[in-house]
Amino acid sequence: MNRPIGIFDSGVGGLTVFHEVMKRLPEEDLIYFGDTARVPYGIKSAETVTRYSMEITRFLMGQEIKLLIVACNTASSVAIPALQSAFTIPVLGVLLPGARAAVRYSTRRRIGVIGTEATIGSSAYVAAIRDLDTRIDVHTQACPLFVPLAEEGWGGHPIAGAVAREYLEGLSRTGVDTVVLGCTHYPLLKGAIGKIMGEAVTLVDSALETATEVQSLLLDRRLARTDNAEPLRKYFVTDAPERFRKVGERFLQHPLPNVEKVTL
Ligand code: DGL
Repeated sequence: MNRPIGIFDSGVGGLTVFHEVMKRLPEEDLIYFGDTARVPYGIKSAETVTRYSMEITRFLMGQEIKLLIVACNTASSVAIPALQSAFTIPVLGVLLPGARAAVRYSTRRRIGVIGTEATIGSSAYVAAIRDLDTRIDVHTQACPLFVPLAEEGWGGHPIAGAVAREYLEGLSRTGVDTVVLGCTHYPLLKGAIGKIMGEAVTLVDSALETATEVQSLLLDRRLARTDNAEPLRKYFVTDAPERFRKVGERFLQHPLPNVEKVTL
């Protein structure tokens, strides 16, 4: 089907998901929406994040998307049921692909989940993992400072190492064998996180797992693109397109032309 896929996040972080989807499905038209005027979502209530998510999806429906990817872990944790009941297109968050992958990779049934305060507070990851296997022990930890560190480009800085130690030492003592990077920004701190958790612990990158599930969903529902025209890439933000471009290029590992500012 020759209509675009919509991907939204609270800001630039979801470009990690956009990047993986673009790599796996280079022929698909992709529209990104970053709610830069209202970021961060990770410290807001479920009610507010759900309202924002509904407004963004309404905007993307106006762009005639065929599928919605909720790239923001916080929105995926709290807003998916509301989006699925309000809209008729398939809605896929990053939470379930990440949870499924963690259950698959875990050898000792001990899984760690890290994310924003709102994601961890919602317990949505714990519920999703336990739904898949009730015998799994899930340990969680909010790591709010990872978001600004990633945006500042300090994912590999010694400060990131010190912050990671502070947040994760307790989690590393629980004996988890798999950790879900339950936030768009955390793949940029993989090195620092891996160093504290140890080499034996598998880090699950939700962005990558989501791209794999999107590919299967397009095939299963016969939604894959069928023509050979040049794929469309469009980026919408609600504020500061220049900053989005500058910071976003680090997340996307790709130049970001045509960023358009819109009001919802
Ligand atoms: N995109 C958010 C997430 O994945 C992180 C940034 C924010 O708090 O808005 O949870």
